[in-house]
Amino acid sequence: MFEELDMGRADDVRALFTSVFSDSEGEAEGLLVGNLAWELLTETDRQDIYGFAAVEGAEIIGCIIFSRLTFECEKNVFILSPVAIRADRQSQGLGQGLINFGIDRLQEQGIVLIMTYGDPDFYVRVGFRCVAVESIRAPFDLKFPHGWLGRPLPGGSVMPIPGRPSCVRALNKAVYW
Ligand SMILES: CC(C)(COP(=O)(O)OP(=O)(O)OC[C@H]1O[C@@H](n2cnc3c(N)ncnc32)[C@H](O)[C@@H]1OP(=O)(O)O)[C@@H](O)C(=O)NCCC(=O)NCCS
Repeated sequence: MFEELDMGRADDVRALFTSVFSDSEGEAEGLLVGNLAWELLTETDRQDIYGFAAVEGAEIIGCIIFSRLTFECEKNVFILSPVAIRADRQSQGLGQGLINFGIDRLQEQGIVLIMTYGDPDFYVRVGFRCVAVESIRAPFDLKFPHGWLGRPLPGGSVMPIPGRPSCVRALNKAVYW
């Protein structure tokens, strides 16, 4: 039920994120996140993005996207953003299952650290912990620094990394941070 995302399904993915985030955060946020997901899938170089889906038949009922954060020191770091499970299938373990599935695949690719920017109460359940922005900077100044989170993978750590990273073009807008 979890698989690598078919990048050709950007329209389906946009519809999923728009619907889920409209329900949870309001219509404007739904459109914003739907658009972010679509731009990530259609505008990012293939080596800088991974996507995974929870599927049922032909339908995508959950989706997660990881994209590259580039530091001067060339550490192999990705950021998880965004993730969503269709509203009628939430709280059944799919979200945590999809996150862990994606992280396992990234680990196989030699990625050493995954960052995210979200609700710590949820992400601590899947191994993330709070990271001080002085220790690992974000691409933009954060409105909610307590939501800056990291999960090291074997061989990596949440040790300080010098310099401000850059993100992929789709995420490179202050509104997301
Ligand atoms: C967040 C999300 C991906 C989790 O997927 P899910 O399939 O519902 O999650 P799971 O079933 O694996 O885990 C559910 C648990 O996480 C908790 N949870 C979900 N969102 C949470 C949040 N923002 N803060 C704290 N806990 C949260 C649920 O209460 C539930 O707890 P319980 O098992 O003790 O009842 C999904 O609920 C979703 O798409 N939400 C709307 C969009 C969103 O907020 N995305 C994440 C930010 S990018």
